[in-house]
Amino acid sequence: MNDSFTIFAGRANVALATSVAVEMGARLGACSVDRFPDGELSVRLDEPVRGREVLIIQPTSPPVNDHLIELLAFADACRRASAAHVTAVMPYFGYSRADKRHGRREPITASMVADLMQAVGVNHVVTIDLHAPQIEGFFHIPVDSLTAAPVMVEALRPGLPPETVVVSPDAGRVHMATEYARLLGARVAVLHKERASGVETRITRLVGDVRDRPCLIMDDMISTGGTIAESVEALLGAGARPEIIVAATHGLLLAGAREKLARPQTREVLVTDTVAP
Ligand code: R5P
Repeated sequence: MNDSFTIFAGRANVALATSVAVEMGARLGACSVDRFPDGELSVRLDEPVRGREVLIIQPTSPPVNDHLIELLAFADACRRASAAHVTAVMPYFGYSRADKRHGRREPITASMVADLMQAVGVNHVVTIDLHAPQIEGFFHIPVDSLTAAPVMVEALRPGLPPETVVVSPDAGRVHMATEYARLLGARVAVLHKERASGVETRITRLVGDVRDRPCLIMDDMISTGGTIAESVEALLGAGARPEIIVAATHGLLLAGAREKLARPQTREVLVTDTVAP
């Protein structure tokens, strides 16, 4: 048993934290998380962490605010109990889409999350496929944004039809789609998406040729499923083969998303386990 560090699992994805612990030959630290009758959260570490390296595994997936507060409470408890070093492992970084102001008098919530994490004593952040790389700049501590590409490519490659085009559903995912296309030896196409609100998007342009070709839509997350549904529609409208594969790192899959994704022309939807089902 590896006893050189302690791993605590928040409640957002205990299955993932357990498999990480098994992979690292470690055990999960004893802790209790509860809720007071008024909704406030109570976190307690049930073993000492003085002078220890601690990892807290907690994606800040929906309900985002609850999971975030839980992560902050864990980090605060570790700092007050004299842990030597606290790493927040956030496989999914909630609020990462709020990385800039879209108008006046708006917060930059991703930056606010970074401030809160550092204020409670987080020394290091590990995350996967961060929505916008510049979020790293909101922190003064090391941030490692890992990529799911190696596991995704391994899962995708065997079933990928010849001549597949990797499609970025918007300008923000061009780099990701290009990297997947390079790894899969495929071509790239880009859709231009306009967002009217949190739930309303519109695809206005396609850059690239998808006619008579199968497509792989690559995104960092599926939330309401609106972006993917619009993208499938646009690709079919542009003559793509009705054999579309969808892959995204974070499957938030909010209520109604699965229905939006379930179309006969969509052959398969792949997500990783960063977010609990
Ligand atoms: C947007 O910039 C993201 O990369 C995703 O495309 C988007 O957040 C997915 O959200 P939804 O599934 O609600 O369209």
